Amino acid sequence: MFIINICLLVRMMALEASEFVPEDIISSMPDSVITNILQRLPLQDAVRTGILSRNWRFKWTMLTQLIFDTNFFAHLIERRGENTFGMIISRLLLHLNSAITKSVLVLTVLDIVDIHHLILFLSEKGIKDLTLTNWCKPQVKLPTHLFSCLELKHLNISGCCFNPPPSFRGFPNLLSLELCNVQFGGDLGEFLIQCPLLESLDLGYLSYSGNLKPAEIAKLENLKILSLSLCHLETTTTTSSCDVFELLRYLPKLQELGLDFHDYKLTEGGARKKFPTAFPSLKAIKLTRIRFSNGVMLSFALETIRHFSNLQTLEITGIMHLVDDPVPVLIPIPEVEYNTMELRSVVVNDFKGSENEVYLLKYFLACSPSLKKIVIHPDWSLALGEQFMLAKKLLKLHRASPIAEIHFD
Ligand SMILES: *[C@@H]1O[C@H](CO)[C@@H](O)[C@H](O)[C@H]1NC(C)=O
Repeated sequence: MFIINICLLVRMMALEASEFVPEDIISSMPDSVITNILQRLPLQDAVRTGILSRNWRFKWTMLTQLIFDTNFFAHLIERRGENTFGMIISRLLLHLNSAITKSVLVLTVLDIVDIHHLILFLSEKGIKDLTLTNWCKPQVKLPTHLFSCLELKHLNISGCCFNPPPSFRGFPNLLSLELCNVQFGGDLGEFLIQCPLLESLDLGYLSYSGNLKPAEIAKLENLKILSLSLCHLETTTTTSSCDVFELLRYLPKLQELGLDFHDYKLTEGGARKKFPTAFPSLKAIKLTRIRFSNGVMLSFALETIRHFSNLQTLEITGIMHLVDDPVPVLIPIPEVEYNTMELRSVVVNDFKGSENEVYLLKYFLACSPSLKKIVIHPDWSLALGEQFMLAKKLLKLHRASPIAEIHFD
């Protein structure tokens, strides 16, 4: 709404200015202000301001952001048909004069030649913040020009193959890296070491056949946000929560941690070792693809959660319901330690109402005197009647916090 308003405002003011007022007020604003306004419009609208008046003809060529998102392509399809993307994009690029600092590219609809062309263009324009998205299989093989974008500060890639070439020497300025559903070729640990400033690293659903050594991640001493799959972590002989703690002890600034349990092999008994270090700065944790029927895995998760004494925000997501799920193993219940947790907010996704899940919630409710809210998103397989029974059951549980609310969404 806001954007549309600005768009209208710019057009009206510009028209007014050119038709009724001798001096064109908007056009005489400093270029930086105009660029700033244009930057807030969808690209197609920004380009269209070129038809407002002679003065406005080339204002849009000062844009420093290039957003080819779904909106943009939907607009093109509606007006020109699908086969013209490459040509139109090439024509736009020809006109752009400034450095381009930010770009979002939805690759799904582009062919590989256009993708190469675009990324080469951006690599020569000093790109700092780049998002490349591809929703469809097959994954897009990214061109090597990407690895010469040395000014990159934020890189967000999904649905692509990411293969740093042998000559790659790192992204020296990179602060955040998100690789979602990406196939990584090469040595991940070595790659990360070459991005020494990283503060935020999200390797969600990464497909990678190698092992990541804790010592390699530990070199990223600025990390504040880390999300990774436990199956990529090289572990000692028995896998246990200690592997996670061992890693985190080198990351004193870490505030948010995400752990994906997919394909993670845990050893019975490994989960209950003690670990001396506390992690005072860690405030938020997200655990995904947990198998609630797996007692060892769940104990591991609970152990991990309990270990972070300042944890305030917790989000847990189970795996999809499997037909061949083994008979659930109940978790060995640690003694409820009243008022020992700092939790403020808990979210449980795909809640199936198993005994273990209810037990976890019971534990959090009993131990967290500052708890404000538990939000439960039930699994699609739960019938309304079952949801109601579960809600009733949860409402009866003891709450250490008088203001804790339970939301069934
Ligand atoms: C990264 O891009 C995806 C879309 O591909 C988006 O959903 C996500 O929010 C982006 N991440 C950040 C930190 O902007």
